[in-house]
Amino acid sequence: MAKDHWSSDKYSSAASFVPQLTSKVISYLNTQPADRILDLGCGDGVLTAQIAQSASQGEVLGLDASASFIQSAQQTYATPNCTFKHHDCTQLDRCPEAVDGSWDKVFSNAAMHWILRNPETRQNFFANVNKSLKQDGKFVFEMGGNGNVAEVQAAATAALLHAGVPLAEAREASPWFFPSTTHISDLLSNAGFDVEVCEHEYRSTKLTAETAGKSGGLEGWVRLMCAQFIDAAPEGKRDAVAREICEVIEPVVTRHEDGSKWMGYCRLRAVGRKK
Ligand SMILES: C[S@@+](CC[C@H](N)C(=O)[O-])C[C@H]1O[C@@H](n2cnc3c(N)ncnc32)[C@H](O)[C@@H]1O
Repeated sequence: MAKDHWSSDKYSSAASFVPQLTSKVISYLNTQPADRILDLGCGDGVLTAQIAQSASQGEVLGLDASASFIQSAQQTYATPNCTFKHHDCTQLDRCPEAVDGSWDKVFSNAAMHWILRNPETRQNFFANVNKSLKQDGKFVFEMGGNGNVAEVQAAATAALLHAGVPLAEAREASPWFFPSTTHISDLLSNAGFDVEVCEHEYRSTKLTAETAGKSGGLEGWVRLMCAQFIDAAPEGKRDAVAREICEVIEPVVTRHEDGSKWMGYCRLRAVGRKK
């Protein structure tokens, strides 16, 4: 497992909008009372718990690679029909209860651009999701798509270059993979899914306001979401890299009428049906 950059406190201060802006993907999931649903990259479990309320006679299992998130999800949201497990979803086949072909639906929100970062495990991830589902089961997800937070990716790469990190390493430090709908459709089809929906939406997203003593606002978002970029700098230069990313993107993302900050989120949503 890689270093755990996540914390429930920081996430709720800097990115509480992530599990909230989900009405469309949740409508595609169309949870039924008896559904058994896997939630991949469930984070601190806020959304998993909401889904479990709709699957009141079924069951929801949330998996996440962050031990800190899973601990907080277990403390806050675990119920008899909503459970959580610490697991790296690039290796879903090592989680026997996930890949047993017994799930009605597999769901994921805002996690697959991290899970799919390594090209070597990408196709296998989709094959394992297919294995998890019953015949006709649905895989429903939303993730960052092509062009997502491009301003951040460019600023973070440049900040690493300025800190003396070679270009190839600076590029490799990106923790994300933001694919096109064409690429995701191919991956789904190759893994045995009928692609019912695969869409891309530019959805500029308002950051939480800076609040004294809280790790929100632009800096909170950058320090949380760009942690792997920042950690790729030599230790003594990490604060300078975080500051530079904020300083470079601030004028690009600020609305001049009220100072609010809006990131260039591009969402990719898809529904695949197991053949
Ligand atoms: C932005 S959070 C989204 C959390 C949650 N789904 C939500 O909507 O709030 C991204 C999540 O992906 C998880 N993640 C990243 N790589 C992962 C992997 N290889 N396996 C499982 N979870 C992973 C992170 O730990 C984090 O919880």
